[in-house]
Amino acid sequence: MANAIELIGITKRFPGVIANDNVNLAVERGEIHAVCGENGAGKSTLMKILYGMQPPDEGTIKVNDSEVKLSSPGDAIELGIGMVHQHFMLADNLTVMENVILGSEPMKRGIIDLDAARQHLVEVSEAYGLTVHPDDLVETLEVGERQRVEIIKVLYRGAEVLILDEPTAVLVPQEVEALFDNMRDLKAAGASIIFIDHKLDEVLEIADTITVIRQGRTVATVKPDDVTAHDLAELMVGSELPSPQAGESTVTDDVALRIDSLTVHDADERSVVDDVSFEVRRGEIVGIAGVEGNGQTELINAIIGTDSPRSGTISLFGADITHASVGKRREAGLAYVPQDRHQEGLLLDAPLWENTALGHHTRPPFTKGIWFDRVGARERTEQIRRDFDVRTPNVEVPAHALSGGNQQKLILGKEISSHPKLFVAAHPTRGIDVGAQAAVWQDIREARFDGLATLLISADLEELIGLSDTVLVMLRGKIVATLDPAEITPRDLGAYMTGVAVSEEAS
Ligand SMILES: Nc1ncnc2c1ncn2[C@@H]1O[C@H](COP(=O)(O)OP(=O)(O)OP(=O)(O)O)[C@@H](O)[C@H]1O
Ligand SMILES: [Mg+2]
Repeated sequence: MANAIELIGITKRFPGVIANDNVNLAVERGEIHAVCGENGAGKSTLMKILYGMQPPDEGTIKVNDSEVKLSSPGDAIELGIGMVHQHFMLADNLTVMENVILGSEPMKRGIIDLDAARQHLVEVSEAYGLTVHPDDLVETLEVGERQRVEIIKVLYRGAEVLILDEPTAVLVPQEVEALFDNMRDLKAAGASIIFIDHKLDEVLEIADTITVIRQGRTVATVKPDDVTAHDLAELMVGSELPSPQAGESTVTDDVALRIDSLTVHDADERSVVDDVSFEVRRGEIVGIAGVEGNGQTELINAIIGTDSPRSGTISLFGADITHASVGKRREAGLAYVPQDRHQEGLLLDAPLWENTALGHHTRPPFTKGIWFDRVGARERTEQIRRDFDVRTPNVEVPAHALSGGNQQKLILGKEISSHPKLFVAAHPTRGIDVGAQAAVWQDIREARFDGLATLLISADLEELIGLSDTVLVMLRGKIVATLDPAEITPRDLGAYMTGVAVSEEAS
């Protein structure tokens, strides 16, 4: 079969790192090609090169067997290559149609031809079986629907090659299946898809071909029928496939966090967290399951202090912190991993050692008397780099120079190493490779043994079930189920999260 894309001998150097070292990747027309590799292996860099966002230092790019030069995403789009980024790029306050046509509006006598745009949108969505409602506001859509809009946006521009960088990280199992169905339809219609994912069982289910990258080099191109998840993990990182296990209960009677009748309103005065009550004890991990957009974000924000509740109370070891500042909460022993590492967790242009001090700068090792201690901050960062295996040439590089997974490891490392009493972790292993994930689970488990109380929010249902002592399900702002993780599967949990199982329980 003919190749849609061929990357030959691609090399890309950054200061102190060779991100891509003579990489080869050939994608046949009409196939789903997965690219796997550990954090920092060079996957996103390779995709950015193919999408014209970064020029390679060496190497050749061929599209439909002709050599091309890409100096911008515009060039890539022109050649039928589209990319869906992991962070959604849609404008919340615009409709589906406005988002899709943004930047490529069809014009008729100087004005936007909305009829033509609508017709084209409907054609694209029908041709690929991607159902969307053109007039819906994007902010009202669920995550899976937003992703469909992103994919349609790319197809609307005529893409025949789609790059999806970690598209399943934010989806529940039901949504992953819907995405995979869409991918199969796209493939049947002749599109080629390049797809990055750290969940190896998903890769084996959907991919026609798998290319494994290790430390910037192509190490293998295999067929899913010829390998197991175990083989893939070994090719990637040379380590075993981990599975999260809570082990023996360490739950005490000592209440660390108490949430009582908590209600949070959004800007339109709707209750996005609606009369929620629960407790987390020392030594306990309480997991919260829910499709994004059901109030988990607002609940966490109220607990960490970036959102103020309308009513109800939050207490930490008996002290009312409902209206305490973020700084006061941190000093009382709260640590958190934010939902969106790009917006809240990192100063992308600041060096790593400044990032580790972020939020902790009022306490040792970051202070010496009243002064900020740079030496202490650098030492702590070096220690986190070692303990959490943050792959970086040194601690002076800016945070944006780390790969997605390594940014996440830095954030986790700085929070866990602050020895908190309450740890609020939103998607702690999102985007982290299988080897590093095992290490993170081990760290959380060890801290739990020492009495740490953890509130875990995760879209990875195996992680949620495997680590938690109790799982709460949030739907439309309310806790709709309290489940024993020993008795449920990810599929069951997905049913509760989408509201399918709740009515059964109630009836
Ligand atoms: N703009 C940049 N400046 C400096 N170094 C960079 C830059 N972008 C990437 N790198 C480095 O290139 C290497 C490859 O990064 P890349 O983002 O491609 O990894 P990845 O395979 O996508 O990893 P992940 O699974 O964590 O997303 C890493 O060592 C990273 O630190
Ligand atoms: Mg990446």
